[in-house]
Amino acid sequence: MPELEQALAEVAAEMAERTDRGDVATYIPQLGKVDPRKFGIAAVTNDGRVLMAGDADEAFSIQSISKVFTLTLALGNVGDALWQRVGREPSGNPFNSIVQLEQENGIPRNPFINAGAIVVSDILLAGHQPREAIGEILRFIQFLADDETVIIDREVAASERATGYRNFALANYMKSFGNLHHEPELALGVYFHHCAIAMSCRQLALAGRFLANSGKNPATGHSVVSAERARRIGAMMLTCGHYDGSGDFAFRVGIPGKSGVGGGILGIVPGVASLAVWSPGLNANGNSKLGSIALEKLARMMNWSIFAP
Ligand code: DON
Repeated sequence: MPELEQALAEVAAEMAERTDRGDVATYIPQLGKVDPRKFGIAAVTNDGRVLMAGDADEAFSIQSISKVFTLTLALGNVGDALWQRVGREPSGNPFNSIVQLEQENGIPRNPFINAGAIVVSDILLAGHQPREAIGEILRFIQFLADDETVIIDREVAASERATGYRNFALANYMKSFGNLHHEPELALGVYFHHCAIAMSCRQLALAGRFLANSGKNPATGHSVVSAERARRIGAMMLTCGHYDGSGDFAFRVGIPGKSGVGGGILGIVPGVASLAVWSPGLNANGNSKLGSIALEKLARMMNWSIFAP
């Protein structure tokens, strides 16, 4: 097995050569401005190494990857009561689909599709002004990454709000079933802002390390969530983290992962490492094209899979 540092460098060099980079998301106009040649990868191991290659120190829009952290926070606030308002099944549909909501009475299939994450935002709003809920999410991520420089990109948030007709439709529809407790406008304000958090691969891999270490920050030993909750969040990532591409990601990569339309993926190797990769071009399912390929190669090189621990 190669050294991890060497494997990261090899994967980054190979990805730099590729011309089939997928398409950068343009439905959020601000994301369409990102250079598709960017590629970064970072690994934070449970024994404390922080290894990187490529553009791993450049911040990008984490988008749906933020849903892992909002789910973690909301479970901390309301516990398993969350599952009365959001399901735990893969949707088999695109991340912004509305079709299942009518038949399923406004209960989204899982917390990672847009509808599910909007309900999670609504849960985080309880007792707060939107500004406070957004601040709480940002501070939680800064705490996990041990980095107070993580910010929200306000231009990305404004760009998404200005064009977020689908998400307004989802939120209004769920409100009609009684599954939003606040006005759609307010839940969406929280949602758009947490999706607009900008982080580098290094910061993201650091923020995810509690999931690779049974719920504890391996650097401090402090508990973020229980071991059982960390396992369950990992299970949600494996089954739902790549939308209608979740089965393919599990098949090819074999570890829990969460993607975002900014081209990032957070990957968790339980007991071993937290990984973050960024390549802005997306595949047909809206997941990072080269990011998935890079994680597939890295996992194969390092012999990482939750099915062969
Ligand atoms: O709501 C949206 O469409 C975006 N803020 C997030 C979507 C996303 O990242 C889907 N991921 N692949």
